[in-house]
Amino acid sequence: MKDLVLLFALATAAGFTPMALANQHHAAVTPVADVTFTLKTQIHEGQLVFVGDAGAIKGQVAPDLKVPEGAVVAITIINGDGAMHDVAVPEFGAQSDQLVGEGAATTIVFRATKAGTFEYLCTIPGHKAAGMFGKLIVGDVVETVSTAVDIAKNPAEVGEPVGDRAPQHVTYDLETTEVEGKLSDGSTYRYWTFNNTVPGPFLRIRQGDSVTVNLKNAEDSINIHSVDFHSVTGPGGGAAVTQVAPGQTKSFTFKALHPGLYVYHCATPMIAHHISNGMYGMILVEPEGGLATVDHEFYVMQGELYTAQKHGSRGLQEFSLDKLLDEQPEHMMFNGSMDALTKTYNMEAQVGDTVRMYFGVGGPNLTSSFHLIGEVFDRVYNLASFTSPPLTDVQTTLVPPGGATMVEFKVDYPGKYILVDHALSRAEKGLAGFLTVKGEADKAIFESAEPIDHSSGH
Ligand code: CU
Ligand code: CU
Repeated sequence: MKDLVLLFALATAAGFTPMALANQHHAAVTPVADVTFTLKTQIHEGQLVFVGDAGAIKGQVAPDLKVPEGAVVAITIINGDGAMHDVAVPEFGAQSDQLVGEGAATTIVFRATKAGTFEYLCTIPGHKAAGMFGKLIVGDVVETVSTAVDIAKNPAEVGEPVGDRAPQHVTYDLETTEVEGKLSDGSTYRYWTFNNTVPGPFLRIRQGDSVTVNLKNAEDSINIHSVDFHSVTGPGGGAAVTQVAPGQTKSFTFKALHPGLYVYHCATPMIAHHISNGMYGMILVEPEGGLATVDHEFYVMQGELYTAQKHGSRGLQEFSLDKLLDEQPEHMMFNGSMDALTKTYNMEAQVGDTVRMYFGVGGPNLTSSFHLIGEVFDRVYNLASFTSPPLTDVQTTLVPPGGATMVEFKVDYPGKYILVDHALSRAEKGLAGFLTVKGEADKAIFESAEPIDHSSGH
């Protein structure tokens, strides 16, 4: 029965009548489809993936499937891991049955009626996010050279520790820009930034320093921008005197009265819109004598984007005021793009290292339940207060929009640790980051008869 259904599907897609196929009843998919692919589901380095199972794509993880325009395409998937899966190419309305049990197989057949780059994926909730997707490339797609720039902030760019020095005068030049940046592999957004990254630069001073901020708005901006530092005691945190038109520069000087880790952001109406678009960053005001030395420091900020297009759409995503006012973001990111801390940049440490994270929420709206899967924070400087004793042995810590935290921990065991907001629906919107720990596994800390992925930790 299943064969007949498949044949009928093949015949319909190929534009043949079932009669014409009658003699080929025993034939495999190959004779009717112009192009066939076989993919196997697998667990690879802790992720769910499709792996090529035959032909030129054999052994490739998430292979690109290239087909001519107009071709009838058959994609067979074989269940290689025993979990329930399916395969779909939404662009061409192709969707398989659910595939249950190791060794089970199913095939989708469709005609690739238009040229372009599309997606194949497993539609079981969570599986795409876990890695079950790839590209279907139809026709001679000249990969359009996107002019989108990489706005993702490198989390390792934390500047030099201030350490034990006397207060001094420091000058920072900030430039506000409006650029089309990469939101993910295949989608872009028109970001507004400080110095072309999201978040903006990590600024680092000492309590008692006086700081001059020169804020320039790029010539090609369309909007007025400004900056409000939460570390500033004074009018609007600086925003009252830095509403800058395109091409202009405005300045102010403040004295850093309080140590701590502070958010800065644009404060030009509609402020929520400017922040959402990427206009936030942090300034660290080190206490007298500086902070303790650690092996690694990372700078991470959480943000939200409100777009007309649904999460997962390709191409340029457009801002949606309705969704912003409803506080319903389509996309959520650490360090500006969905790939920033999973592909673009790799946070890494060795077993035995001490790690400090400067974590803040640009937002503009959602409080983060900041958590690192598989680790416990040894110390949490709650709300980034350095003058209160830290909390110790914390699993998850709340960080409000326009707020920050500083966490410290020693990494004791190799693996891929995943940074999340424990409101985990948000991971489905792009919010995730990896901290890869390499080194020797101590069986006294963790042991299992199952093969353990020490996270590409060689
Ligand atoms: Cu799946
Ligand atoms: Cu702005």
